[in-house]
Amino acid sequence: MAYSKKQEETLDPDDWEEMRKLGYEMVDDMIDFQRGIANQECHFPSPQNITDICIPLPEKGEGEKQAFNFFQHSIKPFHGHSMYPRFWGVVAGTGSPYGMLSGMLTSGLSANIETPPFVDGYVHRQVIDWIKEMLDYPKEAGGVLVSGGSEANFTGLAVARNARSEIDMKEGGMQGVPRKMVVYVGDGGHHCLERSVELLGIGGGNLRWIPTGDDYRIKIDALKEATSRDRKAGYHPFCVIGCAGTVDTGAFDDFNALADLAAKEKMWFHIDAAFGGWVKISKTHRSLADGLERADSVAIDLHKWMYMPYGLGCTLVRDRLAHYKTFVYGHEAQYIKAIYDRSKVAGDLLDGASNLALPLSRSFTSLNPYLLLRAYGREKYSHLIQQNLNQAKYLANLIERDPEMELTAPVASNVVCFRFNPGGLSENELETLNKRIISEIYKIIFWMISDTVIKGRFTLRAAIVNHRSRREDFDYVHNLVKELGRKALSDLKKK
Ligand SMILES: Cc1ncc(COP(=O)(O)O)c(C=O)c1O
Repeated sequence: MAYSKKQEETLDPDDWEEMRKLGYEMVDDMIDFQRGIANQECHFPSPQNITDICIPLPEKGEGEKQAFNFFQHSIKPFHGHSMYPRFWGVVAGTGSPYGMLSGMLTSGLSANIETPPFVDGYVHRQVIDWIKEMLDYPKEAGGVLVSGGSEANFTGLAVARNARSEIDMKEGGMQGVPRKMVVYVGDGGHHCLERSVELLGIGGGNLRWIPTGDDYRIKIDALKEATSRDRKAGYHPFCVIGCAGTVDTGAFDDFNALADLAAKEKMWFHIDAAFGGWVKISKTHRSLADGLERADSVAIDLHKWMYMPYGLGCTLVRDRLAHYKTFVYGHEAQYIKAIYDRSKVAGDLLDGASNLALPLSRSFTSLNPYLLLRAYGREKYSHLIQQNLNQAKYLANLIERDPEMELTAPVASNVVCFRFNPGGLSENELETLNKRIISEIYKIIFWMISDTVIKGRFTLRAAIVNHRSRREDFDYVHNLVKELGRKALSDLKKK
């Protein structure tokens, strides 16, 4: 495609038909990629690929077609791990063909601020309303779409910090607090919570990791003891975080107990429901999230267990004004005043995504979930969530019935922790064996399943958020682990 020879440049093509042709080619290529994902080989890039990627800034562009060809041959083949039907290593989204196509529409409309009276403001509001409905979260609550679970937690905790601080936090910041503010979470809480607490100036040392029981749920008595100990020591316990699906074991805290305690102690109650919140639309596991509706704020994402394209997360906040006041500017930015004035007149100010999270300019974040939810409806997503929960149960049954394997944690939801354990081996030997197994598995598909350490024990783990997996895939991984385990055992005995 030749560049314009006209004096004034533009990124629009000289030949729109050629651009259309390239577009079709790109769509064809990506549809084929997604269609054949189960048969794709996936590797890490070779040193040569890395050299090819890391080139000096091009002074003259090579053209759209060439850049796309490079993507096809030197980027795409090394991508897509989490899209495989046999990928359960980390809680990572699988995407979908329609999600990909609607992503093109999002980019096609370019950036905006998702604030009424622009049309994207109403689309955004509708998506928030649908999410609230699916989670049984109060109608009067508000929310904002963000980049993922980490930002969703950050946003909720920012509101918590400001709303519960003993000073005007926006004015004085953390430097002005009379008592150190402390926050509590079970020891299975996700590490992104620590990042949020640090970035919010609260300090990682003021995040109390409370012990969990054999069921991996936060121990309420231990939490009560910690808050009263902190109060006596002059701290300000201001927030407790509940986990709806811990990343290691998929455990759910007792949200009603946490909500009761938070109310008594005047603490903000936040829930990290990044993936687990979606049990709410299952038939069998919805009661795990009972009490979620009592939280002051909830972080959830759509790019993991709702199979939507990355990066899509959401923060819901019950007190819409507290949410708005956390992010809105102290002074009015004159250059964008006109749009906020229109919002004010229409009574839509609290719906403006640009006033409810860090970014001012945003992509049309809500278009993807809007189109996907319209296209498939709640029913389809409920079936898919249920399917994954059933698959977790199926895998757990295979493990339980197998005398050479064991479950290493109770299976509360969609995460199955297990290991090869033929009996008669020490903890050290079991760790050696299972480490051998996982390193062999990583050679087949990196993170097909993963390893982790729970309560001091090395374990294998499958986190099932994959709409492409079928029952036979779980038979496959069960047999694979057993076969590799037997081989590792016989090697161990030879030594
Ligand atoms: C429970 C939990 N919370 C938060 C996160 C962070 O979410 P994200 O990766 O979307 O930032 C994760 C990621 O796996 C998670 O499992």
